[in-house]
Amino acid sequence: MQEASDSVLLPADWRGGAKTPLDADTAFNGFISTNVVFALEQLGLFTWFEENGRLDVPDYCRARQLDETVLRRLLSAAETFGYLVLTGDTVAPTPAWDDLRRKIGFFTWGVGGYHDVFANAASITRGERVFGTDVRRDEGMVALGSAQADLALMRHILDEQIAELDFSVLADLGSGISERVSRLVKSRPGARGLGLDISASATRLAAGTVARHGLTDRVQPICADVLDVLFRGRRIEGADGVDVAMSFMFLHDLLVDPRTRRDVIPALRKAFPHAHTFLLGDTTVRPRGEGDTLPVFSTGFELAHALMGVPIYTREEYENLFREGGLHLRRTIPFGAPHTYLFVLEAQ
Ligand SMILES: C[S@@+](CC[C@H](N)C(=O)[O-])C[C@H]1O[C@@H](n2cnc3c(N)ncnc32)[C@H](O)[C@@H]1O
Repeated sequence: MQEASDSVLLPADWRGGAKTPLDADTAFNGFISTNVVFALEQLGLFTWFEENGRLDVPDYCRARQLDETVLRRLLSAAETFGYLVLTGDTVAPTPAWDDLRRKIGFFTWGVGGYHDVFANAASITRGERVFGTDVRRDEGMVALGSAQADLALMRHILDEQIAELDFSVLADLGSGISERVSRLVKSRPGARGLGLDISASATRLAAGTVARHGLTDRVQPICADVLDVLFRGRRIEGADGVDVAMSFMFLHDLLVDPRTRRDVIPALRKAFPHAHTFLLGDTTVRPRGEGDTLPVFSTGFELAHALMGVPIYTREEYENLFREGGLHLRRTIPFGAPHTYLFVLEAQ
């Protein structure tokens, strides 16, 4: 019997560099600095510094119709935090900027996507407000943050795994704007893809993604609730031909209902009966008792899902679920973001 894979080596940076207990000064400045970093990303500074070593404040403000006084205050705050150096009208990034750039997706995800959820933690705890009706996340920012994290931290890992697989039709479940499925299909001559997402707006954006990649005859975005496909008899044309089924940062959404949790993997296999490989990526619960430092993202991911009432799982729980569902775990691969894994699974 296959056991959970104990042998996975955790990347050293998953331990993180934030030393606990976070004293009050660090905690408060952390709150302000995440907002400053997110604002600078929204104002285009990360893109700018990828192509230019320096930024001229008056020119930058003129070209984008920004309030120069306010931008200077934001830049000055960023300088205080050690991210930028201001010399007169000129701004340059410090070495710390590079680490922010790699991890910017988590700032977009946390500040852009979940600010209202975190700000309402007390009222959700009291039962005065409920996620989904009184409190919402910004889906667009969550999708953008995921895409930024994918680009900086995850893409190359998936590409290595995909390169080893024989496939002609891919299905991506919870595919967002279908960027990933389009990219993978494009890299494999003659391949085709399906991207299923519950969000009508994401599916509309996906049509644009597919057109931009020149793949309208090869990738089909479909607006569908995957739970309808798994449990309520919704048929997806072409599902029979899928040979690799994937999902990223989405599996936990399928497992919310405890009554159907154990049926999800068997139902997935049934929905894609000829899929020989399942590539399932998701973030897991950070193991406790492993030192006194924290990485980016993990605590935010855990708390956000608690506030939304969505359970999340350990690596071992996922691996057991796959085994019980009849999938053979070929390998578990650390997938860039802290405590996030790509599970490569074979249908038996
Ligand atoms: C965290 S995002 C991940 C998006 C993309 N896979 C990525 O990694 O960037 C989760 C996606 O799942 C979609 N989703 C949530 N519940 C769904 C369901 N029941 N059926 C289909 N899609 C769903 C959301 O609309 C969203 O696009």
